[in-house]
Formats: sequence, structure tokens, C-alpha cells
Amino acid sequence: SSLNRAKKEKKERFVKPSDDVCPILILYGTEYGLSAEVAKKLEESINGKLQGFWARIIDMEEYEIIEFEKEQIVLIITSTYGDGVPPTTARPFFDYLEANRLNLSHIQFSVLALGDRSYPHYCAAGKTLDRQFEEMGAKRFRDRIEVDQEDWTCFDRYIDTICGLVPTLNGLEKREGQDYLYEKAKLFALSQGKHNKKKPYSSKLLVKRILTKGDKVGIHLEFELGDSELKYVPGDALAILPDNPTSEVSAIISLLKLSPSLKVSTPGWHYQEGEQPNPSQITLTHILSKCFDIHNCKPELLQLLKDHVKNQQEKEKLTSLLAQGTGKSNTILVEYLENHHLLDILKMFSSARPPIDDLLAQLAKLLPRYYSIASSMSENKLSVSLCVAVVKYDLHGSERVGIASTQMADRMNVGDRVSIFINNNPDFRLPEDPTTPILMVGPGTGIAPFISFIQERKALGHTGENHLYFGCRRSDEDFLYSKELEQYHNDGFIKLYTAFSRETSQKVYVQNRILENSQQICDLINAGGHIYICGDAKSMAPQVHETLSLIITKHMSIDEADAQALLHKLEKEKRYQKDVWF
Ligand code: 2AM
Repeated sequence: SSLNRAKKEKKERFVKPSDDVCPILILYGTEYGLSAEVAKKLEESINGKLQGFWARIIDMEEYEIIEFEKEQIVLIITSTYGDGVPPTTARPFFDYLEANRLNLSHIQFSVLALGDRSYPHYCAAGKTLDRQFEEMGAKRFRDRIEVDQEDWTCFDRYIDTICGLVPTLNGLEKREGQDYLYEKAKLFALSQGKHNKKKPYSSKLLVKRILTKGDKVGIHLEFELGDSELKYVPGDALAILPDNPTSEVSAIISLLKLSPSLKVSTPGWHYQEGEQPNPSQITLTHILSKCFDIHNCKPELLQLLKDHVKNQQEKEKLTSLLAQGTGKSNTILVEYLENHHLLDILKMFSSARPPIDDLLAQLAKLLPRYYSIASSMSENKLSVSLCVAVVKYDLHGSERVGIASTQMADRMNVGDRVSIFINNNPDFRLPEDPTTPILMVGPGTGIAPFISFIQERKALGHTGENHLYFGCRRSDEDFLYSKELEQYHNDGFIKLYTAFSRETSQKVYVQNRILENSQQICDLINAGGHIYICGDAKSMAPQVHETLSLIITKHMSIDEADAQALLHKLEKEKRYQKDVWF
């Protein structure tokens, strides 16, 4: 059967090359695939360079914990997702280690923690595993290395460091190959079923409705779930696998002076993994539309262009961009790459035309885009809704667009299909007790998960009070779902507080409304209520947090530090949750 074949393939990957080598396990946890890429490079380096060792990589999602008995060297590579949580598919692995005290005293380990410096809980997942392994008796042979995910040069340095250290480790044994002939087990698979991240569902767009007037566009979308068996609960996100804009893809191909139907090899990670495209369909157009991120170029691309550039001026420009290295500390390069898409770069360096395979090898993977779901299955099982802000802005006279949001807004009509899957978000959940009151703060498209919360509570007859703080520019411009929300309010199902920021000479934000109702909010907290914030992570969420701290200080007669401690405690108890983005 195909299942047996799949199992066999997985088994074969782990056959040790000979009995004369010491095995190394590279264990990775990944959300978007970067940790997996680094793990793969590390595996290749070890197997290519180090005599007497044999490395293999396994996704935490698929690792059988019991097999730790057979390991000696474990190299952990994990990213951190969102506000300091492990990658979605690695969570059961983290939870297992938290709940089970294993004896890992026979293991030597080191952690590479990937993170995003703009988030407060930088590299939190890597820190957790580093601590857990130490607590379980494993010996750390190299201090944890923390890397900002955009600092690509650090990965090579990390790989060199590890390759240098491994041969110096003491107490290693060579073991029989047979030991490592095991299968990858899907012990921890999360959303099993017909469709998931590896096998997205091709869903038809059923409804598209513009929710706003004016230049800031928000749209409501409904995608059919058909017989996909996809399931979600309020708080979850829907992932959309976007296509790059056709016009940009064509412009890139014509700048390269290549044929759109040129046959190319697929990247190892054709992202719509479930689809298995027919090899004859894998043309340059296809992979540039579906596989590669043409808006986020890597320093390696410029390096490659520099190796092939003919024009002297262009050469000088590339040399100066790369002069300070390819790391994040080269702010000129970072800024250049932020402001220039592949198309701009190819235009700018028109005398640099490396072989197409080399060029493709330097492009990053086009990633799914996640949107908080704005509907509830308790109300409607047939479709799933989103509320999306359409991203378009001007940069030095040229228009910049968000790939997925403009696809839904401009390049998709009702009836068209797009690939989707559900991304669970266990950190944003309604209280289990239907009588618990909740405070929801969601300006702008931060309203999305609260539409889901409200629909769910209404459909299930939850009696806990629902307080919603919504903010936008003007009541007649970008008040998303105004009719629905006012109806819920008039029916007494929710208490709606609005903050319109551009209707008065002074800005009014949700936190101003919170301050006005501070006594009521403290009562809600004292009554065991839950607090939720969704939307902008940069200024809104921290300012709402500070406002909450302020009102607690005032009404509970405690000092600032105790108020912060109380909020922290609520966070730990999952009574204070955030779904925020930059
Ligand atoms: P503004 O654009 O007029 O500044 C949704 O985007 C709403 O959130 C808008 O009304 C926006 O106001 C407002 N907003 C902007 N910054 C904010 C902040 N720091 N805190 C709360 N709301 C904010």
C-alpha cells in the first residue's frame, strides 16, 4: 500500500552507512521552514566533512521520544513562533518534555534558537528546550546560540562551530547501524485528517464583500469547507497559500529574457506539497508564481549577482552594498533589501544574469499567510470567514502590495479557488466556563477573532458578559462589521465600546475608552474574567497593556509593580491572551 511505501521510504533514510560511525541527531522545530533549512545544511556539512560521524535530521513533529535512549549527540534547532511559543507542529513535543522527566544524562547537546528580535519573547522556544535538556541531565557542550532569523550569515558560523566541536567531544561510542533503522512515527500529529499544512485544501471563494469606504480597504471573505473535513475553533487562524502577482512574474521572466514555459526543476520544498504537480507543468512561470518569495530577497542573491555582473557601475554598487558583510549589522544592505523586490533588483543590475538554476537557488520560499478566523463552526459548518486589510502603499513612487491580501482583493473572484489549511492557536481561546465574562480589545482587523468568539458564545448560549472595544478611523469609513456589532449590542448580547480616532481633533483610541470604564473592567477581572487583545503588536497592544496596569493600580489600590505582576499572573493562567502582529 502507499502507506507502507511511505513508511519504507522513511525507514531507509535512517539506515546508518556503516557500524563504524557515531550517530548525531539533529532535531528541528519549524514554523515556516527556516529551521528545517538550517538543519539540512548542518546535516550535509557533518556528513560531508566529519569522518566517523553520521548525522540525520528529524522534525520534532515526528520524533519518537522513546528513541532518546539511543542518542549520544543531539543538536536542537528551533524557531519561536509569535509571542514566544514553540512552532505549532513542535508543541506536543515541548509539552511532552514539560510533562515527562526523562533521563538524558547520556546525551551531549547544544541548542540553536531562532527568533525575531522585534518580538519581546526573543528565542523563547529555544531557551525552553535548553533548560529542559539541562534539567533532564543532558550535558551542554556548547552554549545556546541565539540568532535573529534574518541574520543568515550566523547560520554558516553556527555550522562551522558545531563541526569544529563535535570531533572534540569525549565519551562517544560507535554503535550498530541496526539500532537506527526506525520509522518516523506521527506520534504528535496535530490536525490529522484529510487536509493540513502538508496537504492544503483547495477551497472555493463563496463571498467577497468590501467592509469599508475610502482608501483603507477591509474585506470580508468566506471560503467553502466542502468535504474538506477541516475543523477549527474560535481563536484559530486560516492559512492562505498565495500566488505572486502575475504581472510581476511576467515582468521578471521578460527581464531575464527567458521563456515563461521553460522547464525547470522543482525546489526541494514545493510548498503545495499535497498537490504533487505534474512535472511537465513545472515551468518557470509556475515556480515563480507559487514557490518563491519575490518580495523578500536574501543577501546571497546580491552576492550571486556580483559574481556575474558585467557593467562596472553596477559592480561598484553591488560591491558597496555588500562591503559591510551580509549580516544584519549591515544596515545599508538590510534597508536596501527591505525596499527592493526581485523585479527592482533585476532591473537595477541588468548586466548580471547568472544561470537561472543558480538564481532560483538563492530565492526564499513563498510562505503561507495566516489570518485570524472571523467565524464560528458552531454557527456555520460549511464555510470559514476572514476579515482582511488590503495592503497597498507607495514606496518612492512605485506601488507595493501585500501578496495574499491583494490576491483576495484584486486577483480572485467568487468561484475561484485558493489553497488553505487551519493553523491552531491554543494561546487564544474562549474560557471553558460559559458564564465567565470576557473583555475583548480589537481595533481594526483585530476584530476578526472576536467575531468568531461572539458567534460561538451566541450559538452555544454562553451567558458570560461580552465586552468589546473596537477602534477605527471614522464611524462611516472603516467601522468593520458595524451593522452586526450594533445588532449584537442592541440585543444586549455584547457591550460595544467604540473609539473613532479621526472624528475629533484629539485622537481617541480603545485605551482611552478602557480608561473611562476602568471600574467596570476591574470588576470584570475580579469576577474571574478573561482579557483578550488582538491587532497591532507595535504600539496598540503595549499601550492597552499599560492602560490595564494603570487602572488596576488605581482601583485595586496596589502599586505599579504589583499590577504588572497581576497581569503576568493572568497571562500564566491563560486569562490574559494576545493575538498580535507587527
Ligand atoms: P489612527 O490610524 O487614526 O492613528 C485601527 O487601525 C485603529 O487603530 C485606527 O483608528 C488607528 O488610529 C488606531 N490606532 C493607531 N495607533 C493606535 C494605538 N497605539 N493604540 C490604539 N489604537 C491605535
